[in-house]
Amino acid sequence: MLHSMRVPAEIMQKWQEIVDLLADILNVPSALIMRVEPPNIKVFVSSESKGNPYEPDEVACLNTGLYCETVMDTRRPLIVPDALQDEAWKSNPDIKLGMISYLGVPISWPDGEIFGTICALDRKSNGYSELYLRLLLQWRDVLQADLRSIATTQREIEQREAKIRRLVDANIIGIIIWNVEGQILDANSEFLRIVGYDQHDLLSGRVSWADITPPEWRDRDALTMSKLQNDGAVQPFEKEYIRKDGSRIPVLIGVASLEGTESQGVAFVLDLTERRRAETEARESEQRFRNIQMELAHANRLATLGQLTASITHEVKQPITAALLNTQTAQRFLTREQPDVERAKKAIDRAVLNGMRVTEVVDRTHALFRKEPARKDSLEINEAISEVIGLTRGEVLKNGVQVRTQLAEGLPVIQGSRVQIQQVMLNLIVNAVEAMSQMSDDRRELLISTQAEADCVLVAVRDSGPGLSEGAIERAFEAFYTTKSSGLGMGLSICRSIVEDHGGRLWAAANVPKGAAFQFTVPINSDC
Ligand SMILES: Nc1ncnc2c1ncn2[C@@H]1O[C@H](COP(=O)(O)OP(=O)(O)O)[C@@H](O)[C@H]1O
Ligand SMILES: [Mg+2]
Repeated sequence: MLHSMRVPAEIMQKWQEIVDLLADILNVPSALIMRVEPPNIKVFVSSESKGNPYEPDEVACLNTGLYCETVMDTRRPLIVPDALQDEAWKSNPDIKLGMISYLGVPISWPDGEIFGTICALDRKSNGYSELYLRLLLQWRDVLQADLRSIATTQREIEQREAKIRRLVDANIIGIIIWNVEGQILDANSEFLRIVGYDQHDLLSGRVSWADITPPEWRDRDALTMSKLQNDGAVQPFEKEYIRKDGSRIPVLIGVASLEGTESQGVAFVLDLTERRRAETEARESEQRFRNIQMELAHANRLATLGQLTASITHEVKQPITAALLNTQTAQRFLTREQPDVERAKKAIDRAVLNGMRVTEVVDRTHALFRKEPARKDSLEINEAISEVIGLTRGEVLKNGVQVRTQLAEGLPVIQGSRVQIQQVMLNLIVNAVEAMSQMSDDRRELLISTQAEADCVLVAVRDSGPGLSEGAIERAFEAFYTTKSSGLGMGLSICRSIVEDHGGRLWAAANVPKGAAFQFTVPINSDC
């Protein structure tokens, strides 16, 4: 490999000057640099001097008794002043060209292998002084220094190439080299595996880049090409290939143009099949988890509402009774001897209002009973909270609890699920009422407040109950943690997952002067 290295043009030019000078100074027709190319020897550089019969690239066979052959064999300088007078040289091939005297020295590669010779030849007998020999040896050293630098460059190139080959052959990612016509010029085995073709399919030109690209990706590819021409590289993007068997394969691909060639590029291709499968699996298990969570949340709502049944029944019964009474009153006004239509109408109006109240309570309750996936809409949190307060009013009154509200005005609208936020409030209120109902004598106070913070809305439910011990403050949020004989222990854990799902935080703390305070945030502008 090294010994067949090309000598770069700028060195060739320098060498040409050397032989030209040599011919001039020695005043001979020929100065040559010969290079061995077994089984031949070639005129590598030939002086541009008058009467020089040697053409560059001319080739002569070795083993024919050439002067240079001896120099290379002995690896020593050779002076032949007059071959015609010399028994050993009188029939050597150069004599046919008229060259009867010779001065030459060997040139070696840095590893000691022979490169060739540098020599001068004359048509007349020539003694070549000692000085000329020294000059020739000096130039020979220059040539050998050049060969050393060529060898170093070559070694560097080989090392770099080996590294690149290692990259390609490691087959961790698919690598191909292509041209703008869409031909694939080179592909490693990983790429072949990805697309399911063999080397021959691709490199024969039968299958092009376009053939393995689905139609809907062709526009994107055209875009890639124009970006490549401008920037030289394209950031990795995901696309699909059509495999030999017609199936599709998702890949991540990055492209760069090859330096020095505008029409060729290299593409790095990563198979995304595994990742896609894992993503689908994760999505499915996430969905399963959501479904279970929905079931649980629903069960919790049912359980909590179950506790409220008596109060809700009462809430519904009251307006029904009132409606009945009002209707009976209207009947009485109408069946008098002198029917009082005006008063009857008023009574009926009241009955209608009572009826509407029933519908309202039933609707509200029904919304919480329904099992449906949570939808996140724009939500006025005060309004949603007020509805829950209305729903729990009966229960609150029954337990002798006083409710105060401090709902901040002009709160920003939040993104959230109405049913879920109401479920959180329902759980917190019912927990507070239950906690306070254990206290025998004290005042039972429930304070529900909302306020705007820098980037969220803060909701707080404070009670004057027994509060939570240090250890219970965190444990209360664990699933199935309950201190109640009929408790499920799911309420707070569900509340926390709902609030976190909304991008917020739910925590408990001691209330001042006594009781527990549960607070949660819901971010404004959250894009969940
Ligand atoms: N406002 C509160 N005051 C005191 N303790 C509370 C309060 N809210 C919740 N807890 C405690 O946290 C526990 C867990 O509550 P929760 O998860 O709603 O389940 P459950 O209400 O079914 O017990 C309750 O059993 C109770 O011990
Ligand atoms: Mg509870």
